[in-house]
Amino acid sequence: MRTVITYGTFDLFHVGHLNILKRARQMGDRLVVAVSTDEFNLNMKNKVTAIPYADRKAILEQLRCVDLVIPETHWEQKSKDVAKYGVDTFVMGHDWEGKFDFLMPHCKVVYLPRTASISSSEIKLHIASGERTQLRAVMVA
Ligand code: CTP
Repeated sequence: MRTVITYGTFDLFHVGHLNILKRARQMGDRLVVAVSTDEFNLNMKNKVTAIPYADRKAILEQLRCVDLVIPETHWEQKSKDVAKYGVDTFVMGHDWEGKFDFLMPHCKVVYLPRTASISSSEIKLHIASGERTQLRAVMVA
């Protein structure tokens, strides 16, 4: 069985998240998703999510392309997770290009293109702006 792992916050779940999770799952037989906890977001990324960890996790767990959700609590856990879950492929969006190449001796490292014109931050800004338009995500091939 080929195991794939990916990491993220997945706040205000959107189609960019769905696209990367579907593509990651297609690269193996099992997809593990490590979700940043509220504490990790606040203390390490100085971010307050709109949606609490338990709810972000619950949404991901119901997706057909997700097999297991684990908490991401610190930057250094990735090497341990790769060993613990027998990971074959580590997947991230290309905004992280090169950042996790240190895992290459242990598993395949793949950076996938991000879906353009959508992100949790953009959704927050869009709503705050009060604009009466829709955000149109653009899938990059
Ligand atoms: N992602 C993607 N396409 C997008 C947004 C996110 O492929 N349009 C990917 C990221 O590259 C990452 C994963 O989804 O691998 C989780 O990203 P996350 O940081 O939770 O989502 P963002 O929407 O980018 O959040 P923020 O705006 O807070 O940075």
